[in-house]
Amino acid sequence: MDSLAAVNWTAYEEDALAAIGSALSDAELEEARVKVVGRKSELAQALRGVRDRESGMLLNGIRTRLEEAIDARAQELARLAREQSAERGIDVTIPGTPVRRGRLHLITQIRREIEDIFLGMGYEVWDGAEVATVWENFDALTQPQNHPSRSPFETFYVDDDTVLRTHTSPDQIRAMLSRTPPIYMVSPGRCYRRDTPDATHSPIFLQVECLAVDRGITLADLQGTVLQFFRALFGREREVRMRTSHFPFTEPSVEFDVTCFICSGTGCPTCKQSGWIEMGGAGWVDPDVFRNVELDPAEWQGFAFGFGIERIAMLRHGIPDLRMFWENDLRVLGQF
Ligand code: DAH
Repeated sequence: MDSLAAVNWTAYEEDALAAIGSALSDAELEEARVKVVGRKSELAQALRGVRDRESGMLLNGIRTRLEEAIDARAQELARLAREQSAERGIDVTIPGTPVRRGRLHLITQIRREIEDIFLGMGYEVWDGAEVATVWENFDALTQPQNHPSRSPFETFYVDDDTVLRTHTSPDQIRAMLSRTPPIYMVSPGRCYRRDTPDATHSPIFLQVECLAVDRGITLADLQGTVLQFFRALFGREREVRMRTSHFPFTEPSVEFDVTCFICSGTGCPTCKQSGWIEMGGAGWVDPDVFRNVELDPAEWQGFAFGFGIERIAMLRHGIPDLRMFWENDLRVLGQF
């Protein structure tokens, strides 16, 4: 009762409302709140001493009104702040905070570029299967039974009849089994071999397979397609040459070289002074492969090739070590 008598509560409420109404920021409003209704305010202390109903009603009424006034002022301050920022508008004269943008991995960029080049030549892009049957990966491609690449020391077997594909060539078999020729397809994707990682080997790597099956195709079509492909990748001045080679699924088999795009053929360390860079295997689809997928080799001819995508990226950008692609060091990847 003492505290009730000692304070002029009408004046307290008026002063408190004035303090709340003149608060110009959230901080000032909080300061006023602590002062007029906070735990140590005169009002709170008096409320703790209240014994009779009349005083309780008086003081609680003041507290409720002050708290309502505080809420109302808080909303008013928020509205003013919104209005002010709208008046200021958006300042386009300040350079914005730069946002660091991610980018596609170099290998993804090159893979997409390869897909675009072949789409432009009318090819279909295939997403082949990384798990292949032994028949698709070896037998149908007429790989000899005793060929070392069939060994479990070279190839990852899932079970006796299933492997992680060791090249993209089994996609040729799947394409010929699921399509009626003419077929023009490329199939880029991961391959797996039991290789120890070093500068030029990785147990997981990418190849791109190409297969064309039609009537009346000649070796000149193969050469023209590869030339077009390499010129799009490495520049218009490139030339290609074929060297004889051997693969079980092509007859004749060739290997393609492209004129060195560093020295343009005069000789440099990248092309080991030869002026040419080896790109990969290709050939004329073997009649036995056609027979294995029940196509008549007398009616259909075709060419195929398979090139390493990392090798293309390494050569084009002078990357000395294949492992750099997978270490995910942004100082390397950020350059492309
Ligand atoms: N599959 C072969 C390899 O992995 C590359 C290859 C050679 C693919 C000749 C072909 C081809 O389509 O015709 O080494």
